[in-house]
Amino acid sequence: MTEHVIVTLEDGVQALTLNRPDKKNALTPEMYAALADGIERAENDPQIRVTLFQANGDAFTAGNDLADFAKAGSAPVTQSNEKTPVARFLENLATAEKPLIASVNGLAVGVGVTMLLHCDLVYAGASSTYQMPFVNLGLVPEAGSTMLLPRLVGLQKAADLFLTGKKIGAEKAETMGLVAEVFADGDLRAEAMARAKALASKAPNSVKITKALLKGDDRAAVLAQQRKEGEHFGAQLRSAEVKEAISAFFEKRPADFSKLS
Ligand code: COA
Repeated sequence: MTEHVIVTLEDGVQALTLNRPDKKNALTPEMYAALADGIERAENDPQIRVTLFQANGDAFTAGNDLADFAKAGSAPVTQSNEKTPVARFLENLATAEKPLIASVNGLAVGVGVTMLLHCDLVYAGASSTYQMPFVNLGLVPEAGSTMLLPRLVGLQKAADLFLTGKKIGAEKAETMGLVAEVFADGDLRAEAMARAKALASKAPNSVKITKALLKGDDRAAVLAQQRKEGEHFGAQLRSAEVKEAISAFFEKRPADFSKLS
């Protein structure tokens, strides 16, 4: 349980509301665990027809908490078969049979964008922005995004987003196919919830089967890509590249990779 993810259920819609606005909803292990639990709960509870991700404050999420990255990068290497909360969340996103909807207000960074690649419907506020600065942080993309994003937007556009870490706006995200529909910022929350409730009222098996057909047969390939990305991600977390990038963030200065080889 964490107060940083608020769970509500209304008319078949389980809303998972990110609630750490003072840190731009940066995601901690406790928050990943709550999100992973939420998806599992939806899969097992017939009262839940749809899960809706939304956020309080002026950001959807600034991605993984960078202080936790720093902690994870300096922790001793241990062998454990237990999945980390983030691994569980990413896997649950990829395997969920019931619909996942996202309502993206303000900025979405890192996993805040890659998680959207698993959502069946993404609604966006007009001023929302999308950025995946993994390489700027010395990291590699995750969530199966190195497979899913090029499929969605093409190799050049995916490389442009991943290798430059550039930020794009809602209009571009919609043109690229990352977002289904854009709403005025003030209308987003209500519009997304109304669409989630409408979907929750439809025939559940028809919805599930349609989702499965749209996703196709590559669930195993997505999970394999997540694992491959995870191995590189874990190794990079311990690298001098990440150490420099995260120190630079908290010291509010540009990162300097010039001395690293
Ligand atoms: N992890 C931990 N803390 C974060 C965070 C993150 N990912 N993103 C923002 N915060 C914290 C800031 O440290 C700051 O905390 P403070 O008030 O105690 O100093 C607070 O949230 C507000 O952020 P701030 O940077 O002042 O807001 P901003 O509007 O100027 O910039 C961002 C917002 C998201 C552009 C900027 O915070 C940022 O670049 N964050 C890192 C994003 C990132 O790299 N995520 C990982 C992707 S893999």
